[in-house]
Amino acid sequence: MDNGLFIGGGGEAYGTPQFLAQGYANRHGLIAGATGTGKTVTLQILAEGFSAAGVPVFLSDVKGDLSGLARAGSPDHKLHQPFMDRAATIGFSDFTYDAFPVTFWDLFGDQGHPVRTTVAEMGPLLLARLLDLSEAQEGILNIAFRLSDEEGLPLLDLKDLQALLVWVGENRATLSLRYGNISTASIGAIQRRLLVIENQGANKLFGEPALDLADLMRCDAQGRGMINILASDKLMAAPGLYATFLLWLLSELFEDLPEVGDPEKPKLVFFFDEAHLLFDDAPKALVDKVEQVARLIRSKGVGVYFVTQSPGDIPEDILGQLGNRIQHALRAFTARDRKNLRAAAETYRPNPRFSTEDAIRDVGVGEAVTSMLQKKGVPGVVERTLIRPPSSQLGPISAADRKALLNTSDMAGKYDTAIDRKSAYEILAKRAEDAARAAETAELEAEEAPQPMAREYNTARRYTGTRVSRSTTRQQTDTFGSAMTEAVIKELKGTTGRRIVRGILGGLFKGR
Ligand SMILES: Nc1ncnc2c1ncn2[C@@H]1O[C@H](COP(=O)(O)OP(=O)(O)OP(=O)(O)O)[C@@H](O)[C@H]1O
Ligand SMILES: [Mg+2]
Repeated sequence: MDNGLFIGGGGEAYGTPQFLAQGYANRHGLIAGATGTGKTVTLQILAEGFSAAGVPVFLSDVKGDLSGLARAGSPDHKLHQPFMDRAATIGFSDFTYDAFPVTFWDLFGDQGHPVRTTVAEMGPLLLARLLDLSEAQEGILNIAFRLSDEEGLPLLDLKDLQALLVWVGENRATLSLRYGNISTASIGAIQRRLLVIENQGANKLFGEPALDLADLMRCDAQGRGMINILASDKLMAAPGLYATFLLWLLSELFEDLPEVGDPEKPKLVFFFDEAHLLFDDAPKALVDKVEQVARLIRSKGVGVYFVTQSPGDIPEDILGQLGNRIQHALRAFTARDRKNLRAAAETYRPNPRFSTEDAIRDVGVGEAVTSMLQKKGVPGVVERTLIRPPSSQLGPISAADRKALLNTSDMAGKYDTAIDRKSAYEILAKRAEDAARAAETAELEAEEAPQPMAREYNTARRYTGTRVSRSTTRQQTDTFGSAMTEAVIKELKGTTGRRIVRGILGGLFKGR
């Protein structure tokens, strides 16, 4: 088929060559298979194919081995050797080794350019999921977001949220009248959960400069799509953070991209590795949202590919939307394995030449049972396919190579240094400071008021004029302070402020 990415074939012994049609690449996909069966390499050849076709890609690199995309493979490389003959076997005559344009990203800023978002952008629903909050706690988080908007207290980083929660606690009595009971226990619980995610590194995720989505959608000078690789090895230690971040990214893409209907080729392809993390213990409300995003993001030209061990890891409604499928081997040791295997096999259009169930059990490493969307978006008959070898290097590049790529990247310098704008934390700290100063002055004034025991002393002080000058200074500071706060709020209202509003009222994940 024209316009398709070559996936693999198999010659006589197998089926027809398989292509992923670009026009249907936004109808999502699945890469599944037991550990070590070839999922990551399949992801690598798909990323190569999309990039070559001018489609930018976003993927998470769980084990660090996908950095090899940045370097051409080589017949001398030991990982490539067992697959030397494969190109010939499958009739891949124009196979060449090649490097691809890659941008490295890292939430922690070590192995890639830092990726940040603001607390406001994340929104209360995803944040509640990240924090694993109860319903009552989530309610308080919602109140905090609303107050942030009403009071002009922008939530950019975690310390903004912490400060706002303290403020909510202090004003609990008044706020409870307006919003219903706000318990200190619930506030305390949220604060403790914030500490947990902070220790997991979430404080690096929240802040500015926030990621500009356009930076994920670049092409290089030759028109090849940029492959954005998110370093995820360390992130895997905090699966909740990983899953929430990727989900946030998807929902942002959904919100920001215009409708394109059915484009000739996708605008962006998003690979979600270790996708089961997204659904493990996820509340139904969240699964429903993911289902909704997957369904709607298609018309924005974004293809989402879930990578996971067993298709059973993915809720049925979502699985049903994954049109292009590459199923590597599944094990069949236990009764449960066999049940999963059978269920996986039943989702394919049968091929009279073989039993799908047997094939899924028998395929070797780098081999898969595949079904791609064909004309009119109908799933193709299932085939046994030897996956094509990658053109780029199998296995990771060296740390020095990575560093060199980071230094020469066109993203170098844009995100590397965090900025800390005046937001909720700073504004509330300033207010507290002003209040403390006012209290101190009031105390002094009270002290200075004539008292029978110290009349002489006070009289003496009054002659020096200290009191007058102090009060003038205070007035000046206050006016200056509030004018500055106002200016800052005005500035923030232009950008973040608007987003806060959207964060609360609009958006799939953000509305309540
Ligand atoms: N199409 C292929 N061409 C060449 N080599 C392959 C191919 N597929 C898999 N391999 C080989 O199999 C090894 C394991 O594959 P891969 O890392 O993709 O497995 P995986 O399913 O991602 O495993 P895990 O679940 O552990 O992440 C690779 O290092 C490579 O040597
Ligand atoms: Mg893998």
